[in-house]
Amino acid sequence: MQMIPRVLSIAGSDPDGGAGIQADLKTFSALSVYGMTVITSVTVQNTMELKEIHDVPVDVIKAQIEALIRDIDIDAVKTGMLHTREIVEAVSEEIGRQNFPLVIDPVMATKSGTPLLEKDAKSAMIKNLFPLATMVTPNSVEAEMISGVKIENIKDAKDAAKKIAELGAKAVLIKGGHAFSDKEALDLLYLNGKFKVFEAKRIKTKTTHGAGCSFAAAIVAELAKGRSITDAVEKAKDFITRAIRFGFNIGHGFGPVNPMAHLYNEAERYHVIENVKEAVAILETHKEFSGLIPETQANIAMALPFADSIMDVAAIPGRLVKIRKSVKASSCPEFGASSHVAKTVLTVIRHDGSIRAGLNIKYSKRIIEACKEIGWIISFYDRRKEPSEVKKIEGMSISWGAEQAVKRIGKVPDVIYHKGDWGKEPMITLVGKNAVEVAKMAIEVSNIINIVP
Ligand SMILES: Nc1ncnc2c1ncn2[C@@H]1O[C@H](COP(=O)(O)OP(=O)(O)OP(=O)(O)O)[C@@H](O)[C@H]1O
Ligand SMILES: [Mg+2]
Repeated sequence: MQMIPRVLSIAGSDPDGGAGIQADLKTFSALSVYGMTVITSVTVQNTMELKEIHDVPVDVIKAQIEALIRDIDIDAVKTGMLHTREIVEAVSEEIGRQNFPLVIDPVMATKSGTPLLEKDAKSAMIKNLFPLATMVTPNSVEAEMISGVKIENIKDAKDAAKKIAELGAKAVLIKGGHAFSDKEALDLLYLNGKFKVFEAKRIKTKTTHGAGCSFAAAIVAELAKGRSITDAVEKAKDFITRAIRFGFNIGHGFGPVNPMAHLYNEAERYHVIENVKEAVAILETHKEFSGLIPETQANIAMALPFADSIMDVAAIPGRLVKIRKSVKASSCPEFGASSHVAKTVLTVIRHDGSIRAGLNIKYSKRIIEACKEIGWIISFYDRRKEPSEVKKIEGMSISWGAEQAVKRIGKVPDVIYHKGDWGKEPMITLVGKNAVEVAKMAIEVSNIINIVP
């Protein structure tokens, strides 16, 4: 049997499930490592505030770690909230005897500012734990508190990182979730005397509860798989960006990140391809559909549940082409095979996560009439009104248009159309829950068109 990497998180419990031990365990599972947990404190908190911290007795913390070490070969360890000096000392005593790759997330305060570390615990952590660490992952505020350097930009962060490295950790990763740049979420890694910046677009969202914990957990999971420090951070950065982007709007404060977003996408790949294949079979066997194929041909596309780019959308490479009076898919569905229909799908999915598929057909007044007869919700956009700054950016028109069509009626319609522009063919896109659904929609329309000429 294949041996799964085994990872231990020593941290606090967060009852709302967004951060702490709960975030770590979800992240470990999502990244295919086996997770174990030693709870250091039980917190009373929700997405709005942290109210109480109840520390687990130090003997119990030690006994938990001992029990695991006696029984299981541990590949890597992560520490999170270690509330008191006694807890820090107990943890460093237990894990200091071993030689695990160790990631220390020096959790000092919540996003709302509540301290998570008693004063003398900070110096104990620096003295006892940092020298054991493969990596420490402070956010910018924590990095200031540890290094004494005020951080306002990347240069300050570099100074702080060097100072923190002097305290004994092999690598220092300063997370810029709160700092450095408004446009980007930058993280700075200092390793072997060299800096590397990891960047992602900053997402405008409140679903960041647990971002720090999940990020460090993802790093330790990748280290346990045997990746290098730099590769582990790179992988973890992609992972956390997706988890934030697809976080859950749960609770009244900062919603939890979604460490499963990545996993659900992977799990759905096969089903999405099969669904597009089934949809193609429907379209190929209904000859009347050929009457709906536009000059520029058609394509049918379906997105993964947490799609973020056209690589997350399956479609037909070479499109659906008209051959005499029937339609043939030029090849089997693949991810990344469509740009036009995929962009419409990626736009609507942001407004309604259940609408994940699209199919473009030719435009005519008669076809729009047929859609109305069926009772579908129809919206449109005017390509001639596309702002020049959008026009300038290659490939932005479709996303802009779909956004306009959704905004026009305040929800995702069943049918989006535009009447073209200079050199642009007018087009209708049918959207729905999955590829089979939109294929059936197309057949329904083509049946009406065929009965009444
Ligand atoms: N709005 C955002 N968009 C994209 N990435 C973000 C955003 N906010 C944070 N990140 C990223 O999330 C990761 C965690 O960083 P953050 O600075 O939030 O850690 P933290 O303050 O320790 O979080 P926590 O409060 O959960 O402990 C980093 O990679 C950071 O760049
Ligand atoms: Mg944090």
